[in-house]
Order: sequence, then C-alpha cells, then structure tokens
Amino acid sequence: MFKAVLMGQTEDRQPVMTIENLEDSFLSADGEVIVRVRYAGLNYKDGLCLNGQGGLIREFPRIPGVEFAGEVLKSEDDRYAVGDQVIATGSRIGEIWHGGYAEKASVKGDWLVPLPKGMNMRQSMIFGTAGITAVFGLQSLERHGLTPDKGEVLVTGAAGGVGSFAIALLAALGYSVAAVTGRIKESGDYLKSLGAETLVPRYELAEAIKRPLESERWAGCIDNVGGEMLARILGQLKYGCSAAAIGNAGGHQMPASVIPFLLRGINLLGIDSVNQPYDSRVQAWSRLVDDFPLDKLDSIATEITLENLETAGKDILNGKIQGRYVVCL
Ligand SMILES: NC(=O)c1ccc[n+]([C@@H]2O[C@H](COP(=O)([O-])OP(=O)(O)OC[C@H]3O[C@@H](n4cnc5c(N)ncnc54)[C@H](OP(=O)(O)O)[C@@H]3O)[C@@H](O)[C@H]2O)c1
Repeated sequence: MFKAVLMGQTEDRQPVMTIENLEDSFLSADGEVIVRVRYAGLNYKDGLCLNGQGGLIREFPRIPGVEFAGEVLKSEDDRYAVGDQVIATGSRIGEIWHGGYAEKASVKGDWLVPLPKGMNMRQSMIFGTAGITAVFGLQSLERHGLTPDKGEVLVTGAAGGVGSFAIALLAALGYSVAAVTGRIKESGDYLKSLGAETLVPRYELAEAIKRPLESERWAGCIDNVGGEMLARILGQLKYGCSAAAIGNAGGHQMPASVIPFLLRGINLLGIDSVNQPYDSRVQAWSRLVDDFPLDKLDSIATEITLENLETAGKDILNGKIQGRYVVCL
C-alpha cells in the first residue's frame, strides 16, 4: 500500500482531490522503474491539474505531480539499480501517467535521470522543472550570442519558480539582471537577495504596445509571462538580441508587431522542457550543480506535504507563491 493524492471527477465533471491509501497494483504495469518518491515539486501546471483546469488530465482517477525525486525500489532498466537516486521530469508524468504526489511511482526508464553528483534529492526538487527550464532558457540565449558584457537581461514573472532560478543563475554568471514583478513590496528584497539589480513593476510592461519600437533597453529576456508583456518587451530588445519564451502566466495571446524582427533583427526563442532528450536533461542538471549558487536554494524553498496541496494548487494559479514549494513524502 502507498499514500497518494488522487484526482477524480464528479458526475458533472467537477474536479475532486482526495488523499488515499492505494494498492501497489494501482500503478501502471507498463512502468519499467518503481521509485520510492521522497520529494515532489509544485509547478503552475500542477496547479492546473489539481484544479481540473487546462484539460491536462483526461483520464480519471489520476495521481498528479509532474516531477519527483526518489530511490529505485525495482528496475527492469539496466541503467538503474535498486537504491539508485533518480529524478523524473517532463514526459507528461502526472497528466497522462500517474505522477509524483504519491509515496510510489512507476515510470519508463527514459523519463528518469540519475541524481547528479553534488546535489541531494531535496535540492533537486527545489529546482525541479523550473530549475532546468531556466537553464534551457539561458542556454538558448547564449547560443544566440548573449554574454554578460552585452547589457541588462530582463526576467519576467520574477518571484515565481523559473524566474527565481533565472535571476540567481544569471547573477552568478556575472549578468546584470532586471526583474519584472507584480509584488515589489512583498518580494523586492527577495529578488535583490537572488541577484536582481533593477526591479521593474509589472504595470510598467503590462500595457499593450503603443509603438512597435521603443528605446533599445534589454540585451536578452527570460520570459515567463507571455501575452501583452512579451509583445511589449520585443520592441525594447537591443539590436540582434533575443527573448526566450518560457511561460504564459499572463496569457497566451501575443498582440505583437513584426517590426522589431525586421528593423532590429531580434529573435524569439521557444523553450520546451517536457520533451527534452535524455542527454539534454542530464546536461541541464549538471549545469545547475556547476553554475547555480546552491547557498541561495533554501531562500527559494518552502516545504509542504500532500495535505497542503489543495491550497497550494490554488495559490500558484493566483500568483501567490514566492519561489518554489517542495512536497516532502
Ligand atoms: N516551457 C516550458 O517547458 C515550461 C517549464 C516550466 C514552466 N513553464 C511555464 O512558465 C511559467 C512560469 O512557471 P513557474 O513555475 O515559474 O510559475 P510560477 O511559480 O507560478 O511563477 C509565475 C510568475 O508569473 C508572474 N505572474 C503571475 N500571474 C501573472 C499575470 N497575470 N501577469 C503577469 N505576471 C504574472 C508572478 O510573478 P511576480 O509576482 O514576480 O510578478 C508569478 O510568480 C508558467 O506559465 C509555466 O507554465 C514552462
């Protein structure tokens, strides 16, 4: 038996979240590696799943939780032995497959990576998908020429998970970071402690574009917000610079102009963490070990349990969570 969060639906399709003790046979028989989950994360996507939004879970009942870390209990995959410590992210775990809000999970070997040396399981789930996604965003900007001498890099959705990691990572690598937040009063000191030099109030960038080109201001952008804010930022990028589009916390419609692409040669780079190949995930985890200031991790993390997930799932959708929640099992 193992304890798990279970998402079900009422007859009129309303989401129902319960905490159950389940038989091991509840887990998918197609899984190749069974893991004793020790930590899971909480992402915006988990908030959607826990509240029955976004159409991400289509079959019920389903154990949600898009990422977890734990120890291998049983393995049919030669790469993993009993006792190995592993991390699972992406591959639509917790959506079309039972996920990490449970003491046990059964997944495909390809969806796992070994816990990197120099990081423990708790730290790995403080980072979670948000941490590796910040790395994917940064690396994409670097491939398009971003270096610290080019100028200020803007991070939107700054006090959220991806935003927090992006700021601390950029600052540790010597970049000047400007952070856009809707919570300057509550989170301003936190963002400065992560390494943000400039705080930009959300309202300054939230308005739709009035002119397709504004003054050239940013050498790059890691954008977690999308919508009108991203459209606006495109017109403020310096000549030849890029924005990495990661999220849509502010909306998915982007009322943008093509003029900044045509007259300033800017780039809009799409970032996906869900279907990243194995080698790319391993490399991103190892870059976090090498480049992220691990002493900042505890200030980003808040520990919760399965029992707190109902409230936490609502809070993340309402933009009330600062940094990352890590679920201890
Ligand atoms: N592409 C991928 O593979 C990938 C991977 C992970 C996450 N994501 C997406 O990236 C985004 C950020 O993820 P996360 O885990 O960091 O989420 P999060 O912790 O919920 O952070 C999102 C942040 O966005 C800001 N925000 C919220 N509502 C907003 C609004 N209406 N307008 C403007 N800003 C708003 C808030 O920051 P402030 O309070 O500081 O303003 C909030 O903390 C989400 O959309 C998520 O789905 C994508």
